[in-house]
Amino acid sequence: MTGGTRELLLSRIRDVADYPKPGVLFKDITPLLADPSAFTALTDELAALCATHGATKIVGLEARGFILAAPVAVRAGLGFVPVRKAGKLPGATLRQAYELEYGTAEIEVHAEDLDAGDRVMVIDDVLATGGTAEASLELVRRAGAEVAGVAVLMELGFLAGRARLEPALRGAPLEAL
Ligand code: PRP
Repeated sequence: MTGGTRELLLSRIRDVADYPKPGVLFKDITPLLADPSAFTALTDELAALCATHGATKIVGLEARGFILAAPVAVRAGLGFVPVRKAGKLPGATLRQAYELEYGTAEIEVHAEDLDAGDRVMVIDDVLATGGTAEASLELVRRAGAEVAGVAVLMELGFLAGRARLEPALRGAPLEAL
């Protein structure tokens, strides 16, 4: 990624203090999405990573991950598979629970959307604690597919998501733009 593209993307991410609760600095990507130059640049960068790592299918993580992953899939000429919060998919699913700070969450994927021939790039907006991405890799492998990597716009380094995700990556790349 060129320095100019990096600056463009950074300039379109808005810091919102005390959202969604006091003490949290929220990274708002809506200015980036509203700027066609920035959104296109981001889509191109993520699509290039998919090619670099030999992905043959794109998984997007609900909800903001969908917004990034769907245009990347179109740009890369690959199929898009949604990983949804539990209870939203109508067909036969694989379900994976994961730990949150307080309690657990569950995500699902349609079992028929992934199979042994797929090399999957998982795309999301943010890697925070890494729990969502870790659970998504579990789903990809349980479906029989291979992991090409994980690509995110932002990594919140102070939450150490990369370290949590490391074992689940099994050598596959984590790309944070
Ligand atoms: C956010 C974000 C990632 C996830 C990262 O999703 O979009 O998917 O949290 O957190 P983690 O690394 O700690 O698992 P969230 O479900 O909060 O919101 P969204 O539905 O608006 O994308």
